[in-house]
Amino acid sequence: MTQRQYLVAGNWKMNGSLEANRTLVSGILAGLGQCAGVEVLVCPPAPYLAQVRELVEGSRIRLGGQNLADQQKAGAFTGEVHGAMLRELGCQYVLVGHSERRSLYGETDAVVAAKFKVAQALGLVPVLCLGETLDERDSNRTEAVLARQLGAVVEAAGIAAFAAGRAVIAYEPVWAIGTGRTASAEQAQSAHAYLRGQLAERDATIAGSTRILYGGSVKPDNAQELFAGADVDGGLIGGASLKCGDFLAICAGAQSQLK
Ligand code: PGA
Repeated sequence: MTQRQYLVAGNWKMNGSLEANRTLVSGILAGLGQCAGVEVLVCPPAPYLAQVRELVEGSRIRLGGQNLADQQKAGAFTGEVHGAMLRELGCQYVLVGHSERRSLYGETDAVVAAKFKVAQALGLVPVLCLGETLDERDSNRTEAVLARQLGAVVEAAGIAAFAAGRAVIAYEPVWAIGTGRTASAEQAQSAHAYLRGQLAERDATIAGSTRILYGGSVKPDNAQELFAGADVDGGLIGGASLKCGDFLAICAGAQSQLK
């Protein structure tokens, strides 16, 4: 099986300021030594990408966007951000289909698949976010929802789109995002194994090399246990990524799982 490097990604959402970003990034830079061997990614709001790019320059912190337009070409799309702009500002990654985009901005599986394809076409690694609502979990529809959300992208982009680290999956149960309620390590591992199995039905090698992150109220005190799951390859961190000490402790939680 291909070695999968842990990835810990900070999703700052619509938070930050020039000053707060400076303080946060300098703190992360100062503590990076605690998480050697873990890939560290920050996803600031688009207007701050140029600033954060300068702040992380020369370091191993990677930069990602939180969203991109579903358009191949730039043009008359007021308010949208083209993937090529993210690339030009130093992004290697971009979140696609975050549950807040799906629920608050009406992104359907088809829109998410289109964004995923555009991201890859433009040289960005999409972090495909998916996960079930509480209602879906309570009515035993978790696996059906995950299969549908992943299937929409795999069918549109082809399984090869997941080959060799070209895409990352983030399993984020909607009921755990920003709620302080985390999936148990067993619930997370079971969903991750299911997602990997879905990929394996199409291609076992690709399934073995695809990183699957867990997201939803990851905190310093639960990170290590969550990351211990055999199919959990890191985390997508919201609230705790805005606190330098918490974010670093979560990265260290991944580091402690390295063999
Ligand atoms: P949270 O957010 O860590 O604040 O729950 C995770 C996410 O939305 O990516």
